[in-house]
Amino acid sequence: MSLTKEEERDCVRIRPYDKETDLEKVLDLERNCEVGSKKRPILVIDSMGDPLCRIRNSPLFLMMVAESGNDLLGVVCGSIKIATTGGSSGSQAKLGYILGLRVPTRHRRRGIGRRLVLAMEHWFCLNQVDYAYMATERNNEASINLFTYKLGYTKFRTPTILVNPVGNKPGRIDPNVAITKLEISQAESLYKRHMSSLEFFPQDIDQVLSNKLSLGTWVACRRGESWSEASNWAMISVWNCPYRIRVARLPIVCLFRAKILRHLERLSPCFKRIGIPNIFSFFRFYIIYGGHVEGPEAARFMRALCVHARNMAMKQEGYTLILAEVGGEDGIRYCIPHRRDLSFSSDIWCIKDLKEGKKESFDWNSFPPCTSIFLDPREF
Ligand SMILES: CC(C)(COP(=O)(O)OP(=O)(O)OC[C@H]1O[C@@H](n2cnc3c(N)ncnc32)[C@H](O)[C@@H]1OP(=O)(O)O)[C@@H](O)C(=O)NCCC(=O)NCCS
Repeated sequence: MSLTKEEERDCVRIRPYDKETDLEKVLDLERNCEVGSKKRPILVIDSMGDPLCRIRNSPLFLMMVAESGNDLLGVVCGSIKIATTGGSSGSQAKLGYILGLRVPTRHRRRGIGRRLVLAMEHWFCLNQVDYAYMATERNNEASINLFTYKLGYTKFRTPTILVNPVGNKPGRIDPNVAITKLEISQAESLYKRHMSSLEFFPQDIDQVLSNKLSLGTWVACRRGESWSEASNWAMISVWNCPYRIRVARLPIVCLFRAKILRHLERLSPCFKRIGIPNIFSFFRFYIIYGGHVEGPEAARFMRALCVHARNMAMKQEGYTLILAEVGGEDGIRYCIPHRRDLSFSSDIWCIKDLKEGKKESFDWNSFPPCTSIFLDPREF
């Protein structure tokens, strides 16, 4: 990695995270770091005391910190896995995912963010990673400029996040729909049969499905039919996200409106139907992943599965939303119940080819997006 002369003069040191000395400082940075534009709503993450919670479920992971003396000047996380790249069927590559890049406001524009990413790319290269990728919000100018202009990343995919409030009344499941929870081995074989050619499908899907955060995989089909023989069916898996989030920096008008509606909701049962979630205080959430449908009637089975997941979340204290992330062009989004006013298609994934000098015939960067991609819940 090449540093500018100024950076070399600077006494900022990049090194792996050390829980003993860095935990409190990293949690402090997480609490106080301003993310995104000051004028737009943002998601604030509370790792509940475990800053590694967004990477520790991946096969290989690392957190790096930037420090100067006793001061923590930035952090970045990375994880490595093998996954499908799209293009010719079955082709796989080693992928490095960069996330959680944070530099405190007063230390920005000193090249620290760039150095942290370069250090992470260096670790990726030591581990023979083929592609590095990252996700950021469409309006995060600092992050997009850093990755695309300064570090050679290309804008790549644009997934959509579908949001559904959990609410306080159980949803009704169509009595003609049968829902079955699968054994992990059954789920694994369904995933391999129907999803292994999707971009980003992880080679270690068995580890995802058997992780304690994965609450299970369910299939739905017509009552009286066997799911394994049905021609119309749907499946989902549910992931219990290990951290809390809240929405901050909502325009004052929206905040006021939401507060009034929540107040009315408490006073009158007719407002309960609107179901205004409290997203301004920290809350937990489930992620629906691995959604798949087969057959022309499958949409209603998918809806039943999503109601089932929502009813599960309702039984847990402090769970406010169900999220599902789907490919920007993925038709499955029409089958997954969500609130349009809460859902957003603001993410951009950027990618960089790290295989210098050993180019293969297939260049993923230039490959057009598949309609569906596999969204790995470990990387949310
Ligand atoms: C994004 C972030 C990590 C950048 O850190 P940084 O240390 O300030 O970045 P650098 O100094 O290495 O900046 C390198 C380049 O990025 C771009 N950049 C950085 N901040 C920018 C800003 N506020 N506006 C526009 N471009 C910006 C510029 O091209 C800059 O080069 P230049 O200074 O020569 O113009 C920092 O702003 C931050 O912590 N933001 C909040 C968290 C976040 O959004 N993380 C990214 C999520 S993936």
